[in-house]
Amino acid sequence: MLRKISVAELSPGMFVVDSGLSWLEHPYLFGQEGEIKSLAAVREIAEAGYTEAFIDTERGTYAQGRSAEPTLAELLARETDRPAEPAVPLEEELVAATAVYQDCLCIARNVLETVKAGGELDMDEPTSLVDDVIASAVRNPDALVALCKLRRHDAYTFTHGVNVAALSVAFGTALGLDTLGLRDLGLAGLFHDIGKTGVPDAILNKPARLSPGEFEQVKNHPGYGRQILEGRGLPEAVLRGVAEHHEKWGGTGYPHGLAGEDVHPYGRIIGVADVFDALTSRRAYKDGILPTKALGVLYGMRERDYPPGLVERFIKFMGPYPVGSFVRLASGHHAFVSKSNPGRPLFPELLLTFDPAMARLKPRKIEAKPDAAGKSPIIEVVDPARHGIDPLEFLCPTGR
Ligand SMILES: [Fe+2]
Repeated sequence: MLRKISVAELSPGMFVVDSGLSWLEHPYLFGQEGEIKSLAAVREIAEAGYTEAFIDTERGTYAQGRSAEPTLAELLARETDRPAEPAVPLEEELVAATAVYQDCLCIARNVLETVKAGGELDMDEPTSLVDDVIASAVRNPDALVALCKLRRHDAYTFTHGVNVAALSVAFGTALGLDTLGLRDLGLAGLFHDIGKTGVPDAILNKPARLSPGEFEQVKNHPGYGRQILEGRGLPEAVLRGVAEHHEKWGGTGYPHGLAGEDVHPYGRIIGVADVFDALTSRRAYKDGILPTKALGVLYGMRERDYPPGLVERFIKFMGPYPVGSFVRLASGHHAFVSKSNPGRPLFPELLLTFDPAMARLKPRKIEAKPDAAGKSPIIEVVDPARHGIDPLEFLCPTGR
């Protein structure tokens, strides 16, 4: 089917057709037939002054790869889950994921600095990096999820976008999103707060409650983010993911107070990942809370702020003991959670590292086994920083 779209909506993989309309009468219609190969190509078309093009929705890799965009209710109804056995073990994937994470941090930093300086944004590099994030999440979703929580040394401004992209993509794989959907979700996650470049730092970093006027400025950031990203060949789903990540199920969010199904599924998924990362991140004025506690906070917000089933599904994905958690066992030993157990989440694989006197042991993997009463041996989740312990030293001894 032929469809006329704006050049701002053109994406790599779409097939442009020559409509046969006269150039003299339609000087702004791009009609060079063929598949769009890159975001740079889209940019060149826009820069040449074209504003519209006809595409054939049944031709091109975009048409072949993209299934109809599912609604959130459809995603949540799918009987998908994380695989019982990851394709690559955690310690191996952490090495690859650390490299991807570092590259994402560089890109996030570059993009924010470019936007602040009023420079031209290039979306090809972020897109290929998000593809690397997806590849890591497919090999073992726990590696990037664990890294988000285990790294402690980078500025929140840069890490937050990367964390939200990684968490959203990893969760998206468990929801059964296809690769193109994951790419859109990852790009929206990476850039969800890009509009904060228009909000003064003094407001963003203010430890006290914001005044009504200051909050009004903050409320502009999703819409401003969309404006920054518009016209760069990004799909509408990416723009909506960015623009709608603060909208709430009950219509109490911002900037438009959209409610229920009016919010794009990616806005919803990024909204959950955003709050989870904000709660668990250390900031200049507050310590982060433990991931298990953050999941509890999200659960408390589920009916008012999130669509039915979304928070529950996110908690199921993360598990009661997210990989990387440091736990105290009934025996008094301490261990790291090294592999989730989707079938029996209370009994993950553990890496035993400390005896009851907190003396280091030679790390060894054990299965969390039920006691005589069928209870989990895990008593509580502990913050490893309280003991001066760096989890990556144990979980990724070769890749730190
Ligand atoms: Fe935001």
